[in-house]
Amino acid sequence: MGKSVLFTGFLLVFLGLALPGTQAKVFSRCDLVKTLRGHGFEGFVGKTVADWVCLVKHESSYNTKAVNNNGPSRDYGIFQINSKYWCEDGKTSGSKNACHISCSKFQDDNIEDDIQCAKKIAREANGLTPWYGWRDNCKGKNLSSYVNGC
Ligand SMILES: *[C@@H]1O[C@H](CO)[C@@H](O)[C@H](O)[C@H]1NC(C)=O
Repeated sequence: MGKSVLFTGFLLVFLGLALPGTQAKVFSRCDLVKTLRGHGFEGFVGKTVADWVCLVKHESSYNTKAVNNNGPSRDYGIFQINSKYWCEDGKTSGSKNACHISCSKFQDDNIEDDIQCAKKIAREANGLTPWYGWRDNCKGKNLSSYVNGC
């Protein structure tokens, strides 16, 4: 590796550390378990941390920068929050933006805002049924493998 390549490498690492909130992040399963436990997800709306980890696994594969088209709107970030109802992406007509936030904020490595909005969604639905990833893959299943060893 040449010196300039090495230098560029250091520079990129430095920028990554210097600009928190701008980088994407792929959570490890146990990192996510710990973060969710720390934010009171166990028992929230009658569901477990394992339910949420399973949800995130199937919605975004733990990747904060995930975006997916959902017909006329889009789903953003680790919880795949939708631009029709919850956030504003500037290209979804009639967005309600109920979480009062730009959808791009759901793609960075800071998931505090994602968590606040996901809790609002779950609270209003009184459960996790708004997430097809959870309904189709997690609901009613033995989810112990999602939290095992964490
Ligand atoms: C769930 O799965 C785990 C591991 O596969 C097993 O040890 C446990 O007994 C199961 N729990 C229930 C309620 O079936």
